[in-house]
Amino acid sequence: MLFGVDYYPEHWEKSEWKEHARLLREGNFNVVRIAEFAWGRLEPNEGRFDFSWLDEAVETLAAEGIRVILGTPTAAPPRWLVKKYDVYLRDKYGRVRGYGSRRECCANNRYYQERSRVIVEQLAKHYGKNPHVAAWQIDNEFGCHDSARCYCGHCKNRFAQWLTERYGTIDNLNQTYGTVFWSQEYESFYDVILPAYTSCEGTYGDLWAHNPSLDLDFYRFSSDSWARYQQMQIAIIRRYSDAPITHNMMGHFSDLDYYELGKSLDVVSWDNYIDNQWNHNTYENTAMAHELMRGVKNKNFWVMEQQAGPCGWDKFGGTPRPGQLRLWTYQAMAHGCEGMLYFRFKSAPFGMEQYWLGVIDHDGIPRRRYYELQQTGAELGRLSYLFADSQTLTDVLLVKSYEHVWSHKIKAHVQGFDYRELLYVYYRANQHLGTNPACGPETMIDGRYKVVYLPACVIVSEELEKRLAAYVAGGGTLVLTYRSGIKDGGNNMITETIPGRLRKLAGVTVQEFDSSPIEVTLTDGFGISRLWRDILETETAQAVVSYDSEYYKGSPAVTVNPYGRGRVWYVGCDLEEEALSVLVKRITDEAGAAYLPHPSGTEIVKRRSGEREYVMLLNHTPDAVEMGVSGISLLHGGQFDGTLGGYEVELLETS
Ligand code: GAL
Repeated sequence: MLFGVDYYPEHWEKSEWKEHARLLREGNFNVVRIAEFAWGRLEPNEGRFDFSWLDEAVETLAAEGIRVILGTPTAAPPRWLVKKYDVYLRDKYGRVRGYGSRRECCANNRYYQERSRVIVEQLAKHYGKNPHVAAWQIDNEFGCHDSARCYCGHCKNRFAQWLTERYGTIDNLNQTYGTVFWSQEYESFYDVILPAYTSCEGTYGDLWAHNPSLDLDFYRFSSDSWARYQQMQIAIIRRYSDAPITHNMMGHFSDLDYYELGKSLDVVSWDNYIDNQWNHNTYENTAMAHELMRGVKNKNFWVMEQQAGPCGWDKFGGTPRPGQLRLWTYQAMAHGCEGMLYFRFKSAPFGMEQYWLGVIDHDGIPRRRYYELQQTGAELGRLSYLFADSQTLTDVLLVKSYEHVWSHKIKAHVQGFDYRELLYVYYRANQHLGTNPACGPETMIDGRYKVVYLPACVIVSEELEKRLAAYVAGGGTLVLTYRSGIKDGGNNMITETIPGRLRKLAGVTVQEFDSSPIEVTLTDGFGISRLWRDILETETAQAVVSYDSEYYKGSPAVTVNPYGRGRVWYVGCDLEEEALSVLVKRITDEAGAAYLPHPSGTEIVKRRSGEREYVMLLNHTPDAVEMGVSGISLLHGGQFDGTLGGYEVELLETS
């Protein structure tokens, strides 16, 4: 199993490398990710390459049994490059996103593409057959620092080509966009604007005021641009190397379609910072991020950067408590991680990230974080047979769609609506119950799941309609919510009665909705809806919960509809946490889906590796907890008595 750190030999004197390599080996690390920001040292002047220092670093590490994941260095162009070529992103106000940090380049900029091609080819040629290269990482965190979308001339031209491929004729585009509205009909694809600063922006708060079809296409195009740029690098590396290729994604980040980006990768990896300057992530949200990353390829993943200490850019987040680094590592393994690297090894005293502490501090002395990871590495070394090709045993799938993120973002329906938050509340209710849902794209929907949650499925293609119908007809339980089936692929409102393509499946129509910011009570102790109410008329469905106030008192709020051998739930309004928990439990029970009860603040995840089944217990609280399960510990050998210490983990044999 890959167990390692992110390492920057170029930050240290050569004389220190040997000592670092020794500490790494003694820390039970066997791999480092390397060179992803070293373009300036690898190509100090245009066309002059120097790999000698990296060769020496790779050899020094190899002498201690440590392999490398080689990063292509294109996220941070060297100074000479930006002085000679204008490769900068332009923001929607036309401002240059200039030099001084990183990720300042545009994916469609031909100078950037050309210089990227050259450095990647040189690297691939030089290291393609090097036995110490365990894998490649393309670039670093595409889209980070709000860099997914650019409004420069290169993008405008490329967008015109992209639109030509998508629409064929400009009439077709005009038709789809409805450009007749406000006299916006275009004469040619090169005439189509990028949705940048416009006369309406800011007039009414955060109003963006572009044509929503144009907006959605621009999101799609921008995402495709990075996928294409990545594909360009992959194609070059493939000519010289057979090692697996990855890219480090960012969990919940949604400016890029990770499903598309993942297609050309051999393995997905991601960067997991739980508690930092900007973010104090809950354990449920982190679990969901792991599952989302697993869902990108429906395949186990690596963590390329895992938090190793207190961190932030100008302020620190929280200090990980003793046990938490190990706990967070096991949490990743519980959700499908097969390779774990920590960011970073030695903390840098200089540069932007001098507050981002790594495994060892600025003084280079190993302390508790190093020793905790050393222990973790030793354990994982023994247990690695449990993780390779393992899977979480779950009957439940939660679907995320990037198109839906974008469509809901472009027009958010009502103040306070947030599609990603909606996904999270459904995930959390499931996690608390113990169904441990998988997360992923619509294409993962199939009969292996007893329940599929598809919240706010705003755009329904014909293909999705068929997939859902087949799934439910075959016996599956589908859960839909308000704001589903309302738009077409052009991001326009459908002209059929809502929920359009989902109508037969759901067995309801939406006659009206109430988006007033008021509190509406629900029957059966279902509390209050505050955000959105669909006022439903049942066709073949039955009401489960109804509204208990307002002019639509008595009309259904939650319904269930038999369809083929399965059933479709329609949740027409937002629910409070308790009501959602009750509903999720009922849906789970009625579908016969499995769940593992567990105390609050903990996880119990059932997994299979080959023929072997086991459960992983994770206590995210500082206090000892009675887990309500016992068994033989795969970690310690003896009988586990049911009490799990604060921030402790256990693995129990179940077959
Ligand atoms: C990640 C990035 C790393 C490092 C880290 C800490 O987003 O990939 O290079 O910057 O955050 O800020």
